[in-house]
Amino acid sequence: MEKVRIGIIGCGRISKNHVNGIAKNSDTAALVSTCDLIEEKASRRAKDYESMVDSKVTVYTDYRKMLDEEILDLVVVATESGYHARISIDVLKSGRHVIVEKPMALSIDDANEMIAEAKRAKKILIVSHQNRFNKAIQTTRAALEDGRFGRLFSGAAVIRWNRNYSYYNMAPWRGTWAMDGGALMNQCIHNIDLLRWMMGDGIDEVFAYTANMNHPYVEGEDIGTALIRFSNGSFGTIEGNVNVFPKNLEETLSIFGEKGTVVIGGIAVNKILTWRFADGSDDKEKILKEHIEDPPNVYGFGHVALYKDAIESIKDEKKPYVDGEAGKKAVELVLAIYKSSREHKPVKLPLSHFSTLDMKDQKDKDNFLSV
Ligand SMILES: NC(=O)c1ccc[n+]([C@@H]2O[C@H](COP(=O)([O-])OP(=O)(O)OC[C@H]3O[C@@H](n4cnc5c(N)ncnc54)[C@H](O)[C@@H]3O)[C@@H](O)[C@H]2O)c1
Repeated sequence: MEKVRIGIIGCGRISKNHVNGIAKNSDTAALVSTCDLIEEKASRRAKDYESMVDSKVTVYTDYRKMLDEEILDLVVVATESGYHARISIDVLKSGRHVIVEKPMALSIDDANEMIAEAKRAKKILIVSHQNRFNKAIQTTRAALEDGRFGRLFSGAAVIRWNRNYSYYNMAPWRGTWAMDGGALMNQCIHNIDLLRWMMGDGIDEVFAYTANMNHPYVEGEDIGTALIRFSNGSFGTIEGNVNVFPKNLEETLSIFGEKGTVVIGGIAVNKILTWRFADGSDDKEKILKEHIEDPPNVYGFGHVALYKDAIESIKDEKKPYVDGEAGKKAVELVLAIYKSSREHKPVKLPLSHFSTLDMKDQKDKDNFLSV
């Protein structure tokens, strides 16, 4: 197969990481076209790519026109989250594979429809949970798959960041139930995905509180805490908070097992802070020395590896590392947290028919505590 031909829909902030991820895989893939409603944004990303790779990128403002006119194998959907489902389904129907940004959708029904369409179209649907490719996460996952933790007791996802007025003011969709969700759906979903994946995916029950304590100008929550009972009997806790004064502090994942303890921290789960196993391997010093790198921003380094995996999955017709089913699990857990917070009671999984829009009328009641 020749190079995988790629188009991008949505050329805002995160699209820079996609352009970089494609450019760093330029021996096997090529960015062919970019599309944004605002032509200048699509042109800027085209130029970014052309400055890294000797090629010409065509610019569009209408994604349907791009799908009609270009020969593409893979299309990236990096628009506002509320548009992910509709645009991804259009792309799949046009016969192209999809990489969709996180969260893949804002409702269970939309996630199900996207997965069903990928199946119907026999195309790959990948969700951009790029932190799964972090070196520290991959090393921990290998230890887990080798059985080094023994029985799992508990896991904790902690996200202590800051998102202030100037962040939310960058675009009107941020923090709205229709287009984004709150901090757990946007900022915390990466670590929530990692926690669920590491703890064995299956969940029986979730109980949670969420609130908007410090951002009266957005609808969604800026803080949340959740308790999870996993199907394997272990417990999980989530603490997500974007009110941390005055700036991002940490994104940390801790896994506690019968025979192993790992804590991965730094600003975006890239540094292994604790590595203890009972199996006699003397890899501790090496592991702690080799996993110390913080990325330049919280988006991390993972997009390059995400593209490598996507390209290999397309060429070898294999299941991608983070497919639609995996993306749905993270969305489902966040929606279960929202439902529990809204109803003030534990929520059993699997969840059906819940959406961020079901939180819409909560703003002036329980979800908005201090103003
Ligand atoms: N993986 C990560 O770490 C990560 C980080 C940041 C954002 N994201 C996700 O990426 C998505 C985009 O976030 P962002 O910060 O780049 O937002 P942004 O507002 O900067 O960019 C979104 C862009 O999509 C464009 N767009 C909207 N509808 C379109 C359409 N029909 N056709 C073409 N373009 C269209 C908008 O004009 C805008 O330029 C969100 O879903 C967000 O959750 C993921």
